[in-house]
Amino acid sequence: MVNDNSELSGLQQQAKTRQHIVEEITRKFAAEDEGLKHAVKAAKQAGLPEIQISPIQGKFLQLLAVACNAQKILEIGSLGGYSGIWLARALTANGHFITLEINPSHAELVRNAFAQAGVSDRAEVRVGNALDLLPLLEHEAPFDLIFIDADKPPYPQYLDWALRFSRPGSIIVADNCIRSGKAFEEPQDEGMAGIVAYNKRIASDPRLMKAWLAS
Ligand SMILES: C[S@@+](CC[C@H](N)C(=O)[O-])C[C@H]1O[C@@H](n2cnc3c(N)ncnc32)[C@H](O)[C@@H]1O
Repeated sequence: MVNDNSELSGLQQQAKTRQHIVEEITRKFAAEDEGLKHAVKAAKQAGLPEIQISPIQGKFLQLLAVACNAQKILEIGSLGGYSGIWLARALTANGHFITLEINPSHAELVRNAFAQAGVSDRAEVRVGNALDLLPLLEHEAPFDLIFIDADKPPYPQYLDWALRFSRPGSIIVADNCIRSGKAFEEPQDEGMAGIVAYNKRIASDPRLMKAWLAS
């Protein structure tokens, strides 16, 4: 018979093993250089929440961008520019990266982070509510990769814009679509309602080939 203590230590062991695997993969395949480290440090010092993607996710986004030969990438939700640096570095020569950010002080940090990381020549942040800025991007579409990582209620609208700005073969990535399984239950707030509606839409839209990654 398994008692509570041994079960707990089994779970702790699993968590420790998982942590070790994440650290090793990060060290071997997704190590941060000074530019990325600076972006994280500057955002933390400015009091921003630590909600940027992980290094492994950054590397995965880069891989997707390189796989589709991305020349134009759009991001919705910049925070301190961390994911932006990963993405901007994956562009083809003369490529362009645009990130949309509602908070002007975040945007200022993003500009500095891009300069420190050496990507200012190809990466820019535009300040405002994404839903106001997106209609202004029409003439810059199509984008090869679109990364949605901002406020959750308008995720279905962000998807509409992402589809409008896509070409056959474009990749659309959205963060926070699982939420520890809450995304598969009845939504309890506006944010989750946005995520649930987004998931339903992508699951049923015949134009999309879809996959989920649980992290
Ligand atoms: C999760 S963070 C983005 C993290 C970033 N992609 C990274 O991984 O480094 C979400 C960001 O979206 C911004 N945001 C929230 N609502 C927005 C809106 N309606 N339009 C544009 N940006 C928004 C927030 O200010 C915040 O900086």
